[in-house]
Amino acid sequence: MDEGERLQKTLARAGFGSRRACEILISEGRVTIDGRVAELGNRVHPDTQVICVDGALAPTAQNMVYYLLNKPDGVVTTASDPQGRTTVLDLVESPVRIFPVGRLDMNTEGLLILTNDGRLAHLLTHPSSGIAKEYLARVEGDPSPGAIRRLREGVELEDGVTSPAQVSRVSEGLLRIVIHEGRNRQVRRMCSAVGHDVTRLVRTRIGPIQDATLSPGSSRQLSLGEVRRLMEAVGMTDEIASTMPS
Ligand code: URA
Repeated sequence: MDEGERLQKTLARAGFGSRRACEILISEGRVTIDGRVAELGNRVHPDTQVICVDGALAPTAQNMVYYLLNKPDGVVTTASDPQGRTTVLDLVESPVRIFPVGRLDMNTEGLLILTNDGRLAHLLTHPSSGIAKEYLARVEGDPSPGAIRRLREGVELEDGVTSPAQVSRVSEGLLRIVIHEGRNRQVRRMCSAVGHDVTRLVRTRIGPIQDATLSPGSSRQLSLGEVRRLMEAVGMTDEIASTMPS
């Protein structure tokens, strides 16, 4: 009979530090398996058993979580802020440890995914993923067709020329910009480079994920269908087949 794997191995994989650090967690009585306090030497089946640390569900194989947050202005995308500002993690209640996928500037608003799925996060943020990110940018002045063409074709920034982008003028001083890269402050720098500083920036889409009804500061879990579409978009076909019920 399959005896499962050592609990400290499962916990280490779930992000609780080294196996040695996880042994200490276990010996301190902070870990439970199916509601019972675990002991050193316990083995588990992470696919079927509920493992908690300090009363919170541990992100084991079966416990992947995916949230969508509408980040408001003034909130930072780091896990903790030494200056005590509100972080995106303060806005999302999750039973497991999660982290933001990529980052939005403190003054950028809009959609941000938070998850404990390191593989999906890595693929989504990897430059080769080419995932489309759509923004509405309120800019100073009213960009001319020439400025819009330059934004589309690529503008020279200090870290190189930007890749082709889809750019359209929604109304006076308001642009819809879709980029496939994720450089630091990219949209702001692109707009400044053509003479139109951004005064407000909102992300409205990440690949297949959109939600115009999520109010600023609110979050929700992504649906199974949305997670699947995201996985498809980054080529995680094995995961779709093996981890998700059909
Ligand atoms: N581009 C920016 O300039 N800022 C963001 O937060 C995201 C994209």
